[in-house]
Amino acid sequence: MTAPPDFPQTAAPGAFLTESAPDQAIPENPLTPIAAQRLVEQELAVEGIPERNLATFVTTWMEPEARRVIDGNLHRNFIDHAEYPQTFEIQQRCVRMLAELFHAPGETTGTSTQGSSEAIMLGALSLKWKWRQRREADGKSTEKPNLVFGGDVHVVWEKFCRYFDVEPRIVPLQPGKYTVGPEDVEPHIDENTIGVAAVVGTTFTGHADDVVGINDFLVELKDKKGLDVPLHIDGASGAFVWPFLYPESKWDFRLEQVRSINASGHKFGLVYPGIGWLIFREESDLAEDLVFHENYLGKTDPTFTLNFSTGSSMVLAQYYSFVRFGKAGYRTIMEIMQQNADTLANDIEAIGKFRIIGAGEERLPLVAFNLAEEHPYDEFDIAFQLSAERGWMLPAYTMPPNAQDVKMMRALVKLNLNRSLVNTLDDDIAHAIQTLEEKGPVSESERRRVNTSVTH
Ligand SMILES: Cc1ncc(COP(=O)(O)O)c(C=O)c1O
Repeated sequence: MTAPPDFPQTAAPGAFLTESAPDQAIPENPLTPIAAQRLVEQELAVEGIPERNLATFVTTWMEPEARRVIDGNLHRNFIDHAEYPQTFEIQQRCVRMLAELFHAPGETTGTSTQGSSEAIMLGALSLKWKWRQRREADGKSTEKPNLVFGGDVHVVWEKFCRYFDVEPRIVPLQPGKYTVGPEDVEPHIDENTIGVAAVVGTTFTGHADDVVGINDFLVELKDKKGLDVPLHIDGASGAFVWPFLYPESKWDFRLEQVRSINASGHKFGLVYPGIGWLIFREESDLAEDLVFHENYLGKTDPTFTLNFSTGSSMVLAQYYSFVRFGKAGYRTIMEIMQQNADTLANDIEAIGKFRIIGAGEERLPLVAFNLAEEHPYDEFDIAFQLSAERGWMLPAYTMPPNAQDVKMMRALVKLNLNRSLVNTLDDDIAHAIQTLEEKGPVSESERRRVNTSVTH
């Protein structure tokens, strides 16, 4: 679309080359489209390179064909089901495909979201509403809901508790124990527990809570004491990995107490940021009064979201990935990533300084590792040195309480970290260690610049 003839004069051509980028008020005069594009691109020139970002779970590469689907649908408001019924149908197909992948016993319901955070908020709200219904039916107090989860969960679970007034009952971790099981959650559960949240593919080390153990305990609690406590699975990363790498492992609706699952389409679902999923075991697991029946542009639609208007592109991109790769393609991709993660783990171990965390256990395609012994330098020094020498974003962080004294490093191995880059990374880690051995630890100010964020 070209600008109308009376469109205001542009700022001087090339103004973006000699003037500072506007950062307080919208500028008076327009730029040409190309100048605006160049200005934005130049602002981003100092950003990290996604290929070297080993901190994020989020997809950093999609095929050109997928990008064309995304680009071609950026102007389609997803919520406008009356005008775009097929887009809504495609979302529903994705919900059904995921329900089938997660072994839902029959017809069910679910929704797309902005990501796992919104999916978790909605899923946990449903737990709260269902708990309240049960309590009211029994004429019991609904004053003090609580939610039980391990310290290995993502920060969004605490966020939910704070935003929606639920007491968080957090099982602390311990040095060397970074997931939770039935014996950990048991002491925290009572009649006010709206649910237990367990993680498949933790943010910190990529492992899974003992979901089978927790489920069995909850089934026993229901059978023996009549206390029906639902289990929600946070499969932000793992829900797209476990079905393909560990198909025999039960973590999903094959387990009786698992009532809802969230997954991030934009992580191992292989779609760019902006898509998550919430899937219920059965329709009745979604509290009916959380569903709004909107009359929008002449059509009544049930909506169950925290947002309203939102893009369609990532929903369509998710469908693209499902039909493009199929189950066989997802399996192959997960296997490739895991193979490269295993190679990286072996190579890092061969450097002779590090301990690999939970090697051989079921886990996401990543390598979590730390120094096996004391040195004059630590994990944070290594992270800085590695970024200074080669620009790798390989985060160093401390574990959640009560393992907060444990320092950790974590490298995500996604599809864009191929074997050749794995070899380069491994050489670079060895080289950074050599530098630190020779010159000693980095300065305090350098340590403060280390990427410590592992929550995405
Ligand atoms: C286990 C887990 N849960 C929830 C989230 C939040 O997911 P999102 O970034 O899709 O909102 C993450 C993000 O990394 C995660 O690892």
